[in-house]
Order: sequence, then C-alpha cells, then structure tokens
Amino acid sequence: MKTIVIANAKGGVAKTTTALHLAVGFADRGLDTIAIDMDPQGTLSQQLGVQATGEPTVREVLVDGLSPRDAFVAVRPNLRLLPANILLADADLALSQLHASDLRLRRALQGTRADIVVIDVPPSIGKLTVNALVAADGFIAPIDSEIYAMMGLQLLFRTVETVREYFNPGLRFLGPLLTMAEGRTIVTRVVEEELRAQYPETFTTVIRKSQRTKEAAMSGQTLYDLAGATAGADYRALVREVLARLGDLGEATAAAAIAQECR
Ligand SMILES: Nc1ncnc2c1ncn2[C@@H]1O[C@H](COP(=O)(O)OP(=O)(O)OP(=O)(O)O)[C@@H](O)[C@H]1O
Ligand SMILES: [Mg+2]
Repeated sequence: MKTIVIANAKGGVAKTTTALHLAVGFADRGLDTIAIDMDPQGTLSQQLGVQATGEPTVREVLVDGLSPRDAFVAVRPNLRLLPANILLADADLALSQLHASDLRLRRALQGTRADIVVIDVPPSIGKLTVNALVAADGFIAPIDSEIYAMMGLQLLFRTVETVREYFNPGLRFLGPLLTMAEGRTIVTRVVEEELRAQYPETFTTVIRKSQRTKEAAMSGQTLYDLAGATAGADYRALVREVLARLGDLGEATAAAAIAQECR
C-alpha cells in the first residue's frame, strides 16, 4: 500500500481538487483506493457526495481510536472515503492531549489493505498535517502559479524535516505540481521557470486553469465527467505520472491498471 499526501501551507492552491482527481483517477484505473479527508472544511468529502453530518469520521479514528473500517464510506467503484466534517476543527487540541499524538493515523492505518491512499490536508501545518505526513510514503505540493505558494512549500518543508527526523525518515517529496496555470501569463511563466530551477522533481504535467473546475465541483462531478475539460485531461496525465513515480506499486496493482486501460 502506498500513501500520498497533497499538502501546501498556502490555502487555495488546488490541494483538494488534486486529491479528488488523483483518488478518482486511481480508482478508475482499477486500483483499490482510499481517500482520506483530513480537512475540517470537509471539501473532499462533499465533492465525493458525502455530507458527513452524523456518521463516524476521521475525527473518531484519530481521537477515539475507532477502526477506519467502521468509518469508510464506499463512494465509487474501487474508492472508499474516510470523511471529515467541521467537528475536526478542534482535533489539534484534542490530539495534543493524547499520547503519541503524531502517530495516530499511521497506527490506525496499520491493519488497512488497499493499493493506494490519498490524503487531503488543511492549509495549516498542525497535528492533522503532521499525522498525514507521518503516515505517508510521499507527498505532492500543488503550487497555484503564484509566488506565495512557493513560500508555502518552504514552510511545509520545515515540518517535513522534523517528521523525517523523528518519525518517518523515508518520507519522499514526489514533487511540486503547477496548478491553475495560464500559459500566456508572465506570472505563470516566471513561477514555472523558478519552480523547475529550484525543484528538478517538479511534475512534467501542468494543470491548466479551467473555469469548468468550479462548475464540476458545484454539480458534484469531477473534471473527468465533463467533456472537453482541459484540466481533466491534465489530471489523467498526472495520474499516470504519479504512478510511474511511485514505481513499485506491485505487480498485482500494475496488472489491474493495465487490464482497466485495455478495456
Ligand atoms: N485548474 C483549475 N482551474 C480553475 N480553478 C481551479 C482549478 N483547480 C482548482 N480550482 C478552484 O480553486 C479553488 C481552490 O481549489 P481547492 O479547494 O482544490 O484548493 P485547496 O488548496 O484545497 O484549498 P484550501 O486550502 O482551502 O483547502 C476552488 O474553487 C477550485 O474549484
Ligand atoms: Mg482543500
């Protein structure tokens, strides 16, 4: 099982949009996928059609030690969601009063079987993001074609260094991902140049800005459901690039993906 986190200390950089389209994209390729919503805003849950008003959520898993098995919601073929809602907002405080508060998600996922887990986190770097990074094999940092997003990445890196030192030395930076790119604007070009110079692991795939992203989110669809949505084609390419970067997903899962593609 490979676990990846989509994180950046800056808000509104397309973390949730990226987590959604990776999770759905992996599931569409036949991979047994889990999406975990670690953001009290609950946007990922809502975009997967789960309002999470009453049911057990990731909060009960983190704070009360509930098994994730009892909180998963099957949202699409091959895709289970561990949902979140606004009650997660005080989890930082609740977790800080518990032992091994940074290890709760990793421990909770120990008995879970899946091919791939995608975790969406809030823009703040608190216990929720740390729990996700401690549980992960790698992370992707969306950069919304604004210079501040690169500062958000630098802030995230400070936490990543601590997580590597104390909990998870193998945590990989899979790469920055340029999102909401407007090819003709100078800002996008400058950010892209700087990003690729500073981080050679920047994903080749660039997610273009597309008005249809909001349209999809509002109508409870993904960009894959909307014909001609450019960002949907970009996310399909990203799914392939992430899988190639993870490389060793295992023969069984690779075979499942190939079988799905041949259909
Ligand atoms: N490629 C795109 N083109 C145009 N709009 C986009 C694109 N990707 C995301 N958006 C829009 O930008 C806004 C922020 O996206 P999203 O919620 O994914 O960001 P986020 O980083 O998760 O935000 P937060 O920090 O609040 O969790 C949303 O309204 C989303 O629909
Ligand atoms: Mg979000």
